[in-house]
Amino acid sequence: MEIKENVINNIKNARRGFALTGAGISAPSGIPTFRGEDGFWRNKDPYELASPSGFKKDPQLVWDWYNERRFNIREAGPNPAHYAIKEIGDSFEKFVIITQNVDNLHQQAGSKDVLELHGNIFGNKCNLCGKIFNNVESKEVPHCDVCDGLIRPDVIWFGEALSSDVLKEAWRWTENSDICLVIGTSAVVQPASYLPILARENGAFIMEINKSRTVISPYVDESIIGDVSIILPELARLRLSSL
Ligand code: APR
Repeated sequence: MEIKENVINNIKNARRGFALTGAGISAPSGIPTFRGEDGFWRNKDPYELASPSGFKKDPQLVWDWYNERRFNIREAGPNPAHYAIKEIGDSFEKFVIITQNVDNLHQQAGSKDVLELHGNIFGNKCNLCGKIFNNVESKEVPHCDVCDGLIRPDVIWFGEALSSDVLKEAWRWTENSDICLVIGTSAVVQPASYLPILARENGAFIMEINKSRTVISPYVDESIIGDVSIILPELARLRLSSL
């Protein structure tokens, strides 16, 4: 694999930075992406499954989808890409992983500084009163013991606002980074995909790692086309060999 000179220089010399990760980093763990070539779950568009209107229309369908994803995620584990980004991050003065993933695999790989833009799939809350429920195991959509509302996954759905604290923190990194790695995301969901653009305006070097070009490719400094589980360990090796 040939990695360009400017990528090597930037990965070796950066001191502060962040990674924006998406479903592609967990694909080598066997977790399907959202817009993957295998198509959508039961032919449903993610907008139908991960939205307040989708839950209102068919709560059981949405609950089944999350149950299946939780099962798959529990069976999976981090892959070499998760471990490599942890190693890269540990070698920086300051580094954060800003993830759109809800699968907890960065944390399982040992990364400590992880900002979860879209929440965590293992949390639940009441759709009506917001009461938090952890470790809910149920085939049927459960009901809240306070208000009898339906319980739903505590993740951010389409049309819902991100936590303002998490977003503020993510924004801060776009002002203070030498480098941003955009890893395994189709970059079509806002505001996540705007973070690298902002970072670039503030002088960061933006490096995309994806198995194909994406809508953000024209706006980054370099796109490395390939499998994250091969490219990231190579970038980690380059980085660590220079320290
Ligand atoms: N190596 C590199 N890139 C990969 C690999 C791989 N092994 N496998 C998949 N990819 C890339 C695909 O080319 C694609 O660009 O990962 C990307 C996955 O894109 P999406 O499925 O759209 O996932 P993501 O960008 O994380 O979606 C954003 O959409 O539905 C919502 O909330 C959900 O957080 C999610 C958001």
